[in-house]
Amino acid sequence: MAKMWQGVTDGVTAKVADDFNSSISFDSRMFREDITGSAAHAKMLAKQGIITREDAEAIISGLEGILADLESGKLKIDPDCEDIHMFVEQVLTERIGDAGRRLHTARSRNDQVALDFRLYLRGETDALISLVKSAAEAVLEKAEEYKTAVMPGYTHLQRAQPILFSHQLLAYCMMFLRDIDRLSDCRRRINVSPIGSCALAGTTYPTDRRYEAELLGFSDICLNSIDGVSDRDFAVELLGCLSVLQMHLSRFCEELILWSSWEFRFIELSDEFTTGSSIMPQKKNPDMAELIRGKTGRVYGDLMALLTTLKGLPLAYNKDMQEDKEAVFDAVDAVKSCMNVFIPMIKNMRARPDNMLSAAQTGFINATDLADYLVRKGLPFRSAYKVAGQAVAKCQKTGRILENLPLEEYKELCELVEGDVYGEIELMNCVKKRISEGGTGPDSVDAQIKYLRSRLS
Ligand code: ARG
Repeated sequence: MAKMWQGVTDGVTAKVADDFNSSISFDSRMFREDITGSAAHAKMLAKQGIITREDAEAIISGLEGILADLESGKLKIDPDCEDIHMFVEQVLTERIGDAGRRLHTARSRNDQVALDFRLYLRGETDALISLVKSAAEAVLEKAEEYKTAVMPGYTHLQRAQPILFSHQLLAYCMMFLRDIDRLSDCRRRINVSPIGSCALAGTTYPTDRRYEAELLGFSDICLNSIDGVSDRDFAVELLGCLSVLQMHLSRFCEELILWSSWEFRFIELSDEFTTGSSIMPQKKNPDMAELIRGKTGRVYGDLMALLTTLKGLPLAYNKDMQEDKEAVFDAVDAVKSCMNVFIPMIKNMRARPDNMLSAAQTGFINATDLADYLVRKGLPFRSAYKVAGQAVAKCQKTGRILENLPLEEYKELCELVEGDVYGEIELMNCVKKRISEGGTGPDSVDAQIKYLRSRLS
């Protein structure tokens, strides 16, 4: 078939070359944006007297018809078309004739694809922001539900100090809040209009780029036409935001996997979000959490792919840039599918404060509190640290815990220990005494919940 771009060549290309060149299999998802962008372009051309009002009206109603027919399934996307831009223009011209042929005045596919991509990603970024918000809310609700559950906090995956389970959950909420901020900031740079940059150098027609940008809801226009058609920073940036978000999800899922194992049993994932084994009847596997962790790899891969594609490209447009869409769409789809599972999985998760408490009771995680107690009794911290260590060793040898080591035995280690030591090393007290701002104490946890609630509303 003769190509729309048939100019100096005869437009006859090899079938394999056509297939290789074509992007319609993946860029057809931008059909709404392509149509909206073209309608705004026609409106601008008419306002500027570049095409007639009648032509603009015919173009706009033709485009509306195409949109309606695509939405209803009446019009099928032609997989043999080179890309979605060519497809829409071709159908339009079939339907309305010469007016359709005037649409591509004062633009190029180079600024058109940049426009469509930005419009599409603007919508996806909004959808992603609201998903992260729902995820943060789901975690926040769990934190409130289990606000007073005590668990061991870990460093090096070794029991370290007693903390509130809610405090640990709120740490993830803080991460999600930054993810929302990052995505919102990225959106500001996505929301700049490249249309009117044309092939690379701007145009001889008296266009009004700002009017067209305004029609499409952009907050500004790209101020350099070469940059307008060459810039894909916004896509790299979005992949960066998604990589960090996915890293947070992955760490959280890693903990869910650990916590739901028999070794921990701190949580139970609902049956709806676990799977059985085909051979071991007792198994309940956290497949969803594992898959979320697993999909993180492909999102990082998409970021690397796009960075690498762009790194050696001379200005302005190069066909290599067509590769941007598959990478970004893959990442956006992956993150959305993860979020859509993660949110209900968290909502349906049950915590086991009883098991958390038993784990907290074995592991000497109140040893720091014993040392702090001795400091308050007048011992220098280093000496107190040593005494507390000796007390732990004594307990370990005889299978006891600090809470039931008799006072006489404490006194053998240090004369300063009194009967009040037991209250001081009681686990909930250890938590309550963490009064520093941002610590695990209940007041701090309340303050965090209040802060997150107001930031998320
Ligand atoms: N399908 C192309 C892409 O996705 C559209 C732009 C093509 N421009 C060109 N001059 N070949 O990047």
